[in-house]
Amino acid sequence: MAISGSVLDLIGDTPIVDVSRLSPNPQARILLKLEGMNPGGSVKDRVAKSLLEDAELHGGLRPGATLIEPSSGNTGIGLAMVARVKGYRLKVVLPANVSVERRQLLLLWGAEIIESPGSEGSNGAVRLAQRLAAEHPEWVFLYQYGNPANPRAHYEGTGPEIWRDVPDVTHFVAGLGTSGTLLGTGRYLKERNPAVELWAVEPPSGESVDGLRSLDDGYIPPIFGELGGEKLLDRKTVVGPRDSILWTRRLADLGIFAGISTGAALAGAVRCASRIERGVIVVLSPDGGWKYLSTGAWTDDLDEVVERARRTIYF
Ligand SMILES: Cc1ncc(COP(=O)(O)O)c(C=O)c1O
Repeated sequence: MAISGSVLDLIGDTPIVDVSRLSPNPQARILLKLEGMNPGGSVKDRVAKSLLEDAELHGGLRPGATLIEPSSGNTGIGLAMVARVKGYRLKVVLPANVSVERRQLLLLWGAEIIESPGSEGSNGAVRLAQRLAAEHPEWVFLYQYGNPANPRAHYEGTGPEIWRDVPDVTHFVAGLGTSGTLLGTGRYLKERNPAVELWAVEPPSGESVDGLRSLDDGYIPPIFGELGGEKLLDRKTVVGPRDSILWTRRLADLGIFAGISTGAALAGAVRCASRIERGVIVVLSPDGGWKYLSTGAWTDDLDEVVERARRTIYF
């Protein structure tokens, strides 16, 4: 195997594993792309690298600069890792009630945590970061929800990798957070084959499944509008916390230790498989299970885990 000059060169090119054993339809294959294999542990390593390289190229970003970003999860962690390697300071705005693993990972990479009210969730963190960025024009606000370098990471990375590895793909299923994954990957795949269908997995309005948001909750990420999300997506399917956890557990039967939003996306893929005659469904697994251990998702009583997930933000 080649030797990489930097861990940043190891971002992307993630493996795909066949999980068709979980498909309810023998004619519908389900393939899982394991983004937890990225060095920072999630799909957001791709986005972090893309946001920073874009700011370096077009925004005059120089080492020593201070960055600010609202993120209760993977983007903050990915950015903290890439910023550390590249020599930037990072302030992450996150709701007070995020899980302990999130904090520990941010602190380990040297990020500074600014707390927003837990009751306001990730939308509250976005609002506070916007206010702080306006008060501190010397800080660089990358803003993944409105930054085209987010979907571009998927248009240039995730999409081509799937097309290379699964040229007979018929459906792409992923959770919807900023919408960067779905729209960037989806646009690339539809350009190659317009018949490829894009399925977005959303939590029920008002409920949270790690990393995902319901567009019905009032905040539409600017990149979603700019990339014509409504037109690009073929279907939205709602998956709640209970099903997400159940399908995350089923993956463990196959030796796959994935985060809870992977369970949500898989539940969407299983629904897709049961509705089509035949096909090859690629599902994106955003991260591994490590950051969710304190949820008890694999070991504790399901009702208790679901209840706990209502009080603490685990993404
Ligand atoms: C665990 C997890 N799942 C899914 C998503 C959704 O991805 P995207 O923001 O590209 O829509 C995220 C985004 O933060 C995430 O952290």
